[in-house]
Amino acid sequence: MTTTPVIARTRAELAAARGGSSVSFVPTMGALHDGHVQLLKHARPLGETLVASIFVNPTQFAPGEDFEDYPRTFDADLERCAEAGVDIVLAPAVATMYPAGLVDTVTVDPGPLGTILEGAIRPTHFRGVLTVVSKLFGLVRPDVAVFGEKDYQQLTLIRQMSRELALGVDVVGCPTVREADGLAMSSRNRYLADAERRTASALSAALRAGVAAAAEGADAVLAAAHAVLDGADLDLDYLALTDPELGAAVPGHEARLLVAARVGKPRLLDNTGLTLGGTR
Ligand code: PAF
Repeated sequence: MTTTPVIARTRAELAAARGGSSVSFVPTMGALHDGHVQLLKHARPLGETLVASIFVNPTQFAPGEDFEDYPRTFDADLERCAEAGVDIVLAPAVATMYPAGLVDTVTVDPGPLGTILEGAIRPTHFRGVLTVVSKLFGLVRPDVAVFGEKDYQQLTLIRQMSRELALGVDVVGCPTVREADGLAMSSRNRYLADAERRTASALSAALRAGVAAAAEGADAVLAAAHAVLDGADLDLDYLALTDPELGAAVPGHEARLLVAARVGKPRLLDNTGLTLGGTR
């Protein structure tokens, strides 16, 4: 289904375009790839009007991270949105999202879950993500919002925020889309040099090895995944086995295996669900 999306840059333009319809929403930072298209297709039937936002959010990047270099491909993004049936593309200016400026303003505290895993390495990241997503929810007023499982901790935190702050948005996760060799699609993959690109497939290979060992319990999962990662030329930030809410993994129950590593300069994340056997 191809559409000609309306481009809204302000709250008033957005309100006029969406009218009183039910809304499904896919927030993005642009540089759209097939993983984003999958989110848009998933969201399309969930509301009468499908809104996508394209906004590279400065507050979720720490000083020295890649905010300036983050890929910006607005025209190509618009085409992808049109092909996926998007009705409205919200492309706000920084001043629309942060009318009081970028510092000393009201922000959303992610709580304890925002301090582990990604939060331990990027301590200000989830504050920026939750703050901008809450603002986007306030502008778009969606009924449903769709996020990728690739950023599993982000998805978990946004779901928790919507529930605990009573935002009334149904937060839906969408499975990770992968390249043929298993690499999770990401806007940052384009920065991998050829050799790094080959190394990067070790992340998904480690997850598959972990899943294959799941029946033997948590220690076996971690050992199998580490065996793959240890043989790859990457800087591992973490490999963690948790329950689906990112608490302690429980033998005999659903679990999540999460990995983050730097492959050259780019930092890559991946994760998978699995069912743990054993008693540990
Ligand atoms: O996942 C992303 O692209 C961003 O973190 C999000 C959710 C659009 C907030 O800026």
